[in-house]
Amino acid sequence: MFISFEGTEGVGKTTLIRKIYEYLVQQGQEVVLTREPGGTPMAEQIRSLLLSVNHDENMSNDTELLLMYAARAQHLQQVIVPALLVGKTVLCDRFTDASFAYQCAGRGLSREKLNVLNQNFVSHMPSVTFWLDAPIELGMSRARERGALDRFEQEKVAFFEKVRAGYQELFEQSPERMKRLDATQNPEQVFEQAVAYLK
Ligand SMILES: Nc1ncnc2c1ncn2[C@@H]1O[C@H](COP(=O)(O)OP(=O)(O)OP(=O)(O)O)[C@@H](O)[C@H]1O
Ligand SMILES: [Mg+2]
Repeated sequence: MFISFEGTEGVGKTTLIRKIYEYLVQQGQEVVLTREPGGTPMAEQIRSLLLSVNHDENMSNDTELLLMYAARAQHLQQVIVPALLVGKTVLCDRFTDASFAYQCAGRGLSREKLNVLNQNFVSHMPSVTFWLDAPIELGMSRARERGALDRFEQEKVAFFEKVRAGYQELFEQSPERMKRLDATQNPEQVFEQAVAYLK
């Protein structure tokens, strides 16, 4: 099984994925917990490039998209595909839906660019995707409490509203894969919603 976790900043993806990891391990499954962008040493270096705030040079939207897919290609080849091939469950904190939501819906890049990348460089798609949905301000206030904001977190509310609308669009397009979780609830309740779907 390949499960991804999606949603805007601070909604609780990382909190939920850790709980699901423990839950599945307790059930005796072999589970790989990983994240995007990142998940391998090289892809984590690309992540640093993507998240760091550089006041001297703005990153172009195309560069952002391509770096996401460079990291993803490495991650798929080194981590995700080998794990799935030996029957492990892969839990991934963000995957291709985030590229649609952030780079297309958020930044305004064409779906055509994304489709070319998905068709050529994404060999495996999650069978289940948990979309943690909550009002933008709620997630941002949770994220703010964690400390310094990265390049994405510094974006304005209007940008994240577009990202959230992008997730909504994906949700409507693929209701069998995407499961919407009410992320305004407390961590335990969000976990129970996810487990109900897994059962
Ligand atoms: N359901 C929840 N209710 C209240 N607080 C929560 C909930 N889930 C997570 N938190 C807290 O909110 C903060 C952000 O949570 P978390 O890091 O899991 O979000 P995230 O979606 O992974 O964020 P990011 O997009 O920045 O990676 C953390 O301090 C976490 O403890
Ligand atoms: Mg996180």
